Amino acid sequence: MFLSNAEERILSGENGEVMERMFRLLVRLGEIYGADKMIPVGSAQVAGVSYKSIGDPGVEFLEDFAEKDAGVKVVTYLNPAGMDIEDWQEIGIPASFAEKQLRIINAFKKMGIVVSATCTPYLAGNLPRFKEHIAWSESSAISFSNSVIGARTNREGGPSALAAALCGVTPNYGLHLEQNRRPEVLVEINARLEENADFGALGYVVGKQVKNRIPYFKGIRDADTDQLKALGAAMAASGAVALYHVEDLTPEAHLMQTEGLEKISVGEKEIDETFSKLTTGKEPDIVILGCPHSSLKEIMTVTKKLEGKKLRKPLWVCTSRMVKEAANRMGFTQTIERAGGKVLADTCMVVSPIEDMGYKTTAVNSGKAANYLPGFCKQNVVFCRLDTLIETVTA
Ligand code: F3S
Repeated sequence: MFLSNAEERILSGENGEVMERMFRLLVRLGEIYGADKMIPVGSAQVAGVSYKSIGDPGVEFLEDFAEKDAGVKVVTYLNPAGMDIEDWQEIGIPASFAEKQLRIINAFKKMGIVVSATCTPYLAGNLPRFKEHIAWSESSAISFSNSVIGARTNREGGPSALAAALCGVTPNYGLHLEQNRRPEVLVEINARLEENADFGALGYVVGKQVKNRIPYFKGIRDADTDQLKALGAAMAASGAVALYHVEDLTPEAHLMQTEGLEKISVGEKEIDETFSKLTTGKEPDIVILGCPHSSLKEIMTVTKKLEGKKLRKPLWVCTSRMVKEAANRMGFTQTIERAGGKVLADTCMVVSPIEDMGYKTTAVNSGKAANYLPGFCKQNVVFCRLDTLIETVTA
């Protein structure tokens, strides 16, 4: 792997211990995956933020870096934390958890990382351009940026994204190279896809079958950006899919050849079966929306459905702080609160400690959340479309 003189000097420790360690990690990754050189990245996105995910070793590691004056070279956003950083008391987050979570946030902040705490950086002020090289590490954000925007990122882990943020570069391999972005499986859709939840169910089915490969969808007649984020998130969760193409919808699809590819087809039966398969509970204790983090449009939709209604169960809508500010300004948050719900920023149902807050059954409209909640949060799950969810929990 070619390294410039400046890069060799980083490896020899000239720029300090943190840079040496982080650059060494990138070089090692590059050697393993056959990269020819380092390439500059336009932005980074760092996962591994919740205290629930990284625990005490993570707190110590990050505080050590922050104390050694590590600082990011490119704009770097943070994945969701384990709680709403401002309103954590209101939703019953244990104080011992909050104390550790705030130490993590402060360490990232000291490194110059934007405390965005979202898995939808592209909706919160960090929008890459087509073909821009980036180093992101949350799986749904990776999928969206590669597939819907046409930016280039590998599936970074928390440490490699942090290394790219601190060094400003990433090794040139995998999805950074045009030849690795070609589809490997053709997926024919014979189903009406109407709600975001349908796209989440579809993503779950396809991810399971495609596993780690690049699907090319035919037959999706229309999908907005929220539906594409739901599709990508579910596929990333069930099959580690980091890039997909949709005929006539995603920016690289028209450049791709599909002749001779293995074919699979998905119809309404498979979609309906997925709702049943991922539903493991009956009466929900709580409804949580916003996986991936809600857009303003999604919050507006929920708001309209809750107007004049009263919730019988808690309902959270998870989003980024930036989108929540806009929702506040539009009065959406207030309408949701009048119905008895909450709009939470900075966190989500999977990375917050809901299992320690008395919840046993969570209802969602997200294929990714439905897939993750049993394992990550010991929850029974009700997975269904938004209208059904709202009907279930309103008087
Ligand atoms: Fe985002 Fe949490 Fe879902 S990080 S994609 S809302 S599991």
